[in-house]
Amino acid sequence: MGLIFRQLTDKVSNTYTYIFGDSNTNEIAIVDSVHENTDEYLSLIKKNNWQLKYLIETHLHADHITAVNQLKNHFVNSVVLLSAKSEVQYKHQKVTERETLHIGNISMQFIETPGHTPDCISILVDSNRLLTGDCMFIGSCGRTDFQSGNNKDMYESLKKIITLPNDVLIYPGHDYKSRFVSTVQEEKITNKQLLHKSLNEFENDLNSWNLPPPKKIKESVPANLLGGLMPIS
Ligand SMILES: [Fe+2]
Repeated sequence: MGLIFRQLTDKVSNTYTYIFGDSNTNEIAIVDSVHENTDEYLSLIKKNNWQLKYLIETHLHADHITAVNQLKNHFVNSVVLLSAKSEVQYKHQKVTERETLHIGNISMQFIETPGHTPDCISILVDSNRLLTGDCMFIGSCGRTDFQSGNNKDMYESLKKIITLPNDVLIYPGHDYKSRFVSTVQEEKITNKQLLHKSLNEFENDLNSWNLPPPKKIKESVPANLLGGLMPIS
């Protein structure tokens, strides 16, 4: 008995949503929820008799709409935690660099990892699982070509992540090849973006990606600034 930990997949946006908490108190947090999957979260919460304590967004998403408002509508006492750098326009509690909060006895430490966006945070759960959002991906990293992304910040954030112990598990915000988890050790050896010898080389790589904008960027960003779709009541 101890850690509750689930990794859920949104198949449309390839987003990973995480649920973690303490099985002794049944309190949980949901990280990076996707609004189309609200019923799945509600069903899991009900089946497991969980209490939703925190809703956390690793950053302002451009590829999907969050379920924050829908979930807040059901669990009015839940608290939204966001980076102190977040520019959202709804009620939340700001977390700062290396701040640690607890759910029951399970710790969560917030680590600023900007680059994809200025407000990106990673969350170290129970000292050994890092939810990296759109900073470190398995073998790669998030893109930096919109939402005030910054290559130098990304480069430094990736280097910051690998200062964590080798056995820390890496849980990314997306994976486009159906991989689920990695470790700091594995990323040190295999992450293409960490193998570049200089910031210049790293930037040249990222600048060569030429990806189209996320399909839902025009609807997602304004909606997510308000917590997703508006509450029903
Ligand atoms: Fe993102």
